This record gives sequence, C-alpha cells and structure tokens, in this order.
Amino acid sequence: MRRREFLGAGLSLMLPSCGSGYRLEEQAQRQVRLADVRRLVVERHEPLAGRCRYVAETAAARVAQPVLVARRGERFDGEIVNALPQPTTVHFHGLTLPQAQDGAGFDSIPPGGAKKAAFEVHNRAGLYWLHPHAHGFTAEQVHAGLAGLLVVADEEDGALDQALGLPGGNRLALAIADARVVNGSIQPYEPSAEDCLHGWLGNRALCNGTLDFRATVAPGWTRLQILNACNARGLLLGIRQGERLLPFHVLGTDGGLLAAPVEVESAFLHSAERIDVALRMEATVQALSLPFDPRHHARGKAAQHAHDLRRGYPPLAGQALCGAGRAGGALQDGAEMPLFHLSVRGAATPARPMPSRLSALRAEDFASAPVRRMRLDFDERSGFIIDQAPYRRDEVAFSVARGTREVWEIKNSPVSMPHPMHLHGFGFRVLRRQGTFGPARRLAAHSGARLPSDLGVKDTVLLWPNETVWLGVDFALPDGAAFAGRQRYMFHCHNLEHEDGMMMRNFEVI
Ligand code: C2O
Ligand code: CU
Ligand code: CU
Repeated sequence: MRRREFLGAGLSLMLPSCGSGYRLEEQAQRQVRLADVRRLVVERHEPLAGRCRYVAETAAARVAQPVLVARRGERFDGEIVNALPQPTTVHFHGLTLPQAQDGAGFDSIPPGGAKKAAFEVHNRAGLYWLHPHAHGFTAEQVHAGLAGLLVVADEEDGALDQALGLPGGNRLALAIADARVVNGSIQPYEPSAEDCLHGWLGNRALCNGTLDFRATVAPGWTRLQILNACNARGLLLGIRQGERLLPFHVLGTDGGLLAAPVEVESAFLHSAERIDVALRMEATVQALSLPFDPRHHARGKAAQHAHDLRRGYPPLAGQALCGAGRAGGALQDGAEMPLFHLSVRGAATPARPMPSRLSALRAEDFASAPVRRMRLDFDERSGFIIDQAPYRRDEVAFSVARGTREVWEIKNSPVSMPHPMHLHGFGFRVLRRQGTFGPARRLAAHSGARLPSDLGVKDTVLLWPNETVWLGVDFALPDGAAFAGRQRYMFHCHNLEHEDGMMMRNFEVI
C-alpha cells in the first residue's frame, strides 16, 4: 500500500486506508485583505483523498481558500499554522522577501507547529501566489490544493481598470491546476517513476479548485489574471468563441503590467507563470489549452533520491517519492484541454479603446553586466539537474553581490523537456531567446526573439529543449533591518516533480 506515504494517507496510521476519491464541490472564492489576516492555517479538509486548503483567519471571519489582496506597501503580520500531518512552509511566490520570510524550505514548520511571519509587500501590482515548499513534499501538497492567490494592486493597476471602464465583477483571478478525475472524483497523488520524470499530469482542469468552472460577467472588457498552478502541465491559452479563436490582449506577466498591451490569439503559460489578459466579452467563450508538441525528449524513469526532510518523519523516511503509483489516467502534455467558460449577462456599455500605455515599465540596461552561465541537463543517475549537480539543502552554489546586475545565460540541453525555471526573491527581464521551438517560435516576434509574455517582469521563464535564454537580473534588495546580512534564495525548475526531484540550487546574496 504505497498510498500510505502520501497526504491522503499520512494517516493510514490513524485511518483505514479505504481512500475513495474526493467529491468535488463548488468553492466560491472570497477576497480577504492580506493585512487583516491574523492566522493562515494550512489544513487537510478531506483526509481520505488528501485534499488540503488554506484558511485565512481575520478578527471577524474564517475564510477557506481566499483570494488575498494587498496594496503595494502594505504589511502582513500574522502566524502561519501547520495543521497538516507533514512538514510544510508557505512560500510567497514572486514576492521580494528576506530569507526568513520566503518560506523556501530551509526551515519548515513541523506538523502541529506554527511560525510568526511579518513582511512588507514591495512588489509591483500583479498576481502572486502562495504554496508549500518543503522539499520532498512540495509536489504532493500543491497537488492537494495548496495554491493560494495574492492579488497586489497599485495606482497604475487601478488606472488601467478605470481606462477600460471595467464593469465591477469583470476582473477575475484564476488558478488553473490539473488532476486525474475518475467518476467525478480527484484521484490521490501517487506518482509512478514515469510521472516523476515528466511531471504529474492530470486529465481535467480545475479552476480555483472547481471542475467545469463557469463565471458570468457583464458585456465589455474583462480582465483575467491567470496562474498556471499545474504541477507540470504547460498551457497554450486560447479563447474560443463559437468556432473561432478570439484575439485577446496581454496586459501583464508574473511581475505586473507591460509598458504596452500586445494583441495575440494564444499565449504560453507554464507551471508557476502568470498572465494578465483582457478580452472584449460579447458572447459566451471557452478558455482552453490549445494543442502543441510538448517536446518530451528524455526517456526513462526518475532517479530515486533521498530527501533530508522526509528522513525526519519515520513513516515516510524509508519510502521513495516516486514508484508504485499506477501509470496512466493522464492526458498527455500538449493535448487540448478545456479550462473554463465565461458567459455574459447584462446591458452593453459603450466600448472604451484599449489604452496604448499600461505602465511606466522601461527596458533596463544590462549591457555591462557580467554573464553567469548555467546548463540544464539530464543524467540517467540524477535525473534533471542544474550545472551537473542535484540539490543539496546545505549547499550554496554561488554568491551574488547585493545591488549588482547580472545576465544569466541559461541553456537547456537538446535531450530534455520544457523546464519552467523560477528565481526566488527577484523579478527579472527576458533579454533574448535562441533556439525557441514550435508554436512558441511563432509567438517570438519581438526584439531578441522574445514572446509577448517575455516583455514584462518575470520570475519564472520557460526553456524548451535546446533553447537558450538570457535574463537580466537586478539583485537590489530593499533597505531595512529585515534584509540585513546574507540572504539565501533558490533557482529551480517549477515542474514540481523536477523540483522535488532535485532540479534546484541555492545561492546567496551577500
Ligand atoms: Cu513557486 Cu521556489 O517556488
Ligand atoms: Cu518562488
Ligand atoms: Cu523541469
């Protein structure tokens, strides 16, 4: 009974392992101000199938799976409570936080434990998110439903809604995940060795935790901030109205608004990437992931690694992460997948034109910045690795001087698969691509062979096999005591099976 090592069973110690699937229910999302949260509880609410959720407790209410909202400059000051039977952390993906608040997994919260957390939101307006990051548990816990949304607002962001005349209710924050659904039930997470090599793929999309998600908006501009919260699936976002693809505008990326909108018919969004889009709603539309060639070239089984953190938990220590799970039940990466529906109701208002300027974002100068080179490789023994070394929790692969700029040249090997690479702590700019493949190549019409989704501030960037990207990173940190001293961050693949599978490195800003 392999299942007992996972969340859906952690609990085989306490529960008979009669794990039926999880019954899906509507989960309406409610907004909660980040500044009002006193306790953020991480809990399992469906023990048999191992479904988990975040609950925000304010002075007045308890809200499950909230959309957290904050204005730039606001603070969070509360407690993170781990009510899971496994260690966990809360990582605020995309935010510039000191190491102690980043939740990257250097210090996880034990089952039943709690941690005080306090920080200021320094980042631009945009869609950020929170998820577990305890190494060796990340993929399972995110799959269990632990992907929370954080919408940051600022003046430019508000001005855009005004310019669009955005009707109230026409702005949605959406987390798209995928799961294996059989007879309406989500199957528990039990990856086979092959699942761990390519990443865990589902057969159905969940949008904000819901299958067949539908929302109704007023006619006119609609703004969608979308997160790809899938463990490993790439999405080629398209919007279908009847038989045709409806053009839409890319407004922003991971770290907020572009300088100017870009009109497209599709956009790539891999694991952990966000996109902010506007479309003009006149009739019912269906959002879907359009078919593409996923370029999975590496074959074989995932390497078996020992995880320091799992060693501390006797029922988990001796067991491999990947193994006995049944292969199958997944829809191939790159296959067409319906995501959600939007319908319209209400009276049409006169359409406002899309503004030609969205934000004051400017190109930055990295011409004299030193170049740091990294390679993504596949090795039969270690699996997918960065610069020939699998992850070690106590390793510092390199250091960067605070306040300096660097160009990171990252090359993915030809025998590989797509890797969405994520940098903690710092937004970066995509400067150039080379060797881009397939449908992404057709989108690479901007200077430096960049995609529309490369034109903003990013914290996660997709590399196709044999592709090289050049990133410009500014390692400036905010002033203040919270950021004093050395700060440790990480750079890793956000395909979560690759992340747990050691495709991750630590570095320090000194
Ligand atoms: Cu979204 Cu290191 O993580
Ligand atoms: Cu992150
Ligand atoms: Cu990867």
